[in-house]
Amino acid sequence: KKAIAIMTSGGDSPGMNAAARAVVRTALYEGVQVYGIKDGYDGMLKDDIIELTSRSVSDIIQRGGTFLGTARCPEFKTPEGRRKGYENLKKRGVEGLVIIGGDGSLTGGSLLSKETGIPIVGLPGTIDNDVWGTDYTIGCDTAANTIVDALNKLRDTASAHRRIMIVEVMGHKSGWLAMESGIAGGAEYVLVPEVKYDLDQMCEDIKAQYAAGKRYSIIVIAEGAGDGMGLGKIVEEKTGIDTRVSVLGHIQRGGSPTVEDRMKASMLGEKAALALISGASDVVFGFEQGKVVSINLFDSVNNKKTLDPELVRLARVLA
Ligand code: F6P
Repeated sequence: KKAIAIMTSGGDSPGMNAAARAVVRTALYEGVQVYGIKDGYDGMLKDDIIELTSRSVSDIIQRGGTFLGTARCPEFKTPEGRRKGYENLKKRGVEGLVIIGGDGSLTGGSLLSKETGIPIVGLPGTIDNDVWGTDYTIGCDTAANTIVDALNKLRDTASAHRRIMIVEVMGHKSGWLAMESGIAGGAEYVLVPEVKYDLDQMCEDIKAQYAAGKRYSIIVIAEGAGDGMGLGKIVEEKTGIDTRVSVLGHIQRGGSPTVEDRMKASMLGEKAALALISGASDVVFGFEQGKVVSINLFDSVNNKKTLDPELVRLARVLA
């Protein structure tokens, strides 16, 4: 009987469970056996691999995190490590692997494919939305919604006290999460690593707005653009306005996935399983303009995604 394996890797993201569930159920529907690798590449090396049934993925579509577990695994960065992992799949007759993860995890997959020839299908799973070739990554919508919810609450208290509120959000080196949530949350300023900003000018503008009667200012800063705490000190000094800083942290990674993340993860999971079963390899499935697209795995990991300039422009206009 044909068998495939599935794993989640790198930082978890809401919707990884929905994607894994879709992979498992699709494969079983097609009469293919499925193995689940625990804790990412770490579990592959340690031979922590279990057979999955339809029941294994019951009651998880609504859960954040990943029921398979995940890890960041230094040993897998060596060819010897990857060979060891591959042997554990081979001895079970695994003929292909679905990897759900971000840039680093997909890079690991591309090396595994190159060195061992095992067919790999990747699904972009990260809250950062920084995978090349796709507009969307599993979990980015839930994380953006979590941030917007925080911004709503922070605006209440900022306005009550006439404060400047600085909110540091995740995103690794990408400004997508900051930009998306900043626009949707009505932030006055969104600072991202992709765009230079003039701190003096920003502080002058805020002072002028306060003089004209404004009660608060929300500044979203992407972690890749600098440190929120440090920024808070400078802004308070330059403006003379009471300033507070919130670093949202890992709360952005958890929670029940939104409908969008559940739907897209389910669609991608089905595609991944079908592709692998029909012999495809070295592809990543993602979305472009609302449609599922397949991207070459090596292109995806060798290119850097840029931030949509339209979003940057819109954020400026609406602030
Ligand atoms: O890639 C997802 C992410 O949450 C980034 O936004 C963040 O920089 C990083 O992971 C945090 O990693 P860790 O969970 O290892 O602290």
